[in-house]
Amino acid sequence: MTIVIEVNIMKSVKIADGVYWVGVKDWDRRMFDSLIPLPEGTSYNSYLVVGSEKSALIDTVNPGFEGELEGKISEIVDVADIDYIVMNHAEPDHSGAIPYLLEKNEKVILIATEKGVDMAKAYYDVPDKRIMVMKDGDVISLGGKTLRFIEAPWLHWPETMFTYLVEDKILFPCDFFGAHLAGGFYDDDVPNLLTYAQRYFGEIMMPFSAMAGKALQKLENLEIDIIAPSHGPIYRNPRRIIEAYKRWSSGEIKEKVLIAYVSMWGANEAMVRELAALLTAEGVDVKVHNLVNADIGEIAKDLVDSAVIVLAAPTVLGGAHPLAIYAAYLVKALRPPARYAVIIGSHGWHGRSKDSLLEVLKGSKLELLGDLEVRARPGEGDYEKLRQLAQLIKEKVRGGVE
Ligand code: FEO
Repeated sequence: MTIVIEVNIMKSVKIADGVYWVGVKDWDRRMFDSLIPLPEGTSYNSYLVVGSEKSALIDTVNPGFEGELEGKISEIVDVADIDYIVMNHAEPDHSGAIPYLLEKNEKVILIATEKGVDMAKAYYDVPDKRIMVMKDGDVISLGGKTLRFIEAPWLHWPETMFTYLVEDKILFPCDFFGAHLAGGFYDDDVPNLLTYAQRYFGEIMMPFSAMAGKALQKLENLEIDIIAPSHGPIYRNPRRIIEAYKRWSSGEIKEKVLIAYVSMWGANEAMVRELAALLTAEGVDVKVHNLVNADIGEIAKDLVDSAVIVLAAPTVLGGAHPLAIYAAYLVKALRPPARYAVIIGSHGWHGRSKDSLLEVLKGSKLELLGDLEVRARPGEGDYEKLRQLAQLIKEKVRGGVE
């Protein structure tokens, strides 16, 4: 006997006349790129635009959800009747259903940037005859619905672009303006949405802040009523997220210090607690992350607007504790706007923590503001040095936001 369990999956949602959300809420996903924790899942937003003559699907969904996507599309049009698939971004969370759709629909044409064509072939074996290349500013008409394509490279891969629906003033920017969040449909459903968006910016967009700034300039003269990203809620009040992206991508920092530490026998923890207390007493916003159980996404979020980064770690195995090496690597790779680093460390017989962390950070724009290395445990003289470090940090934090 076969047991069939009926799953009541969310239906398609009309977001404007002829424009439908046909995406997927992935409540269970807990990691992205095997790197970024997703404590609240994510969504793969796909949008169907139906004109009087043609229809286009903007972005698809993660592999494994093809059937759910097809079910939602089928509420509106037959999958075999879609004319275009717009591939704003080739990463599989948005384009993983392309091979399935191409097989179900023999006529559908994939729209991509020139670099997107290369990606579509490499990842999905899409043949040339099924691809149409779009350049910046190119348009296609679906009949009363005009799609304009805006090249926006490196947001988040080299091939990325945005799609703008002219008549309805809807921007489909794929990853840009996204948030890894399964819950909520519109921005006003999620009161603290900007916190999720900042985390996402730190994880995905911060390394490409310069490109984000260029893309925002391109959007400057565009009338935008709705931003429909491919992760997280849809913005029907787009101003707030646009302004936040301007701040984040321009490297606007706060009177804020991020401390990431690891402690084996309590010395680094004691110094971090003291430093955090001294700074907090001065009115500095301090975020402390214990690397043993830290959420990398939260660290990325705090890197977006911190003025100073403090790394604290003991020497073990001939260098800084591996968790601190990992954190330093991420700090370098994510390219946060902070200009100053402070390194704290401890050792039993030979201190090698600072040098190994500086080696990892080499090539970043971080300047070493100060450091403190203690043997075994901090003594009174070390606490005095911490007070001096706190003073130095406070001056830089205040200077950084003036
Ligand atoms: Fe949501 Fe870069 O993929």
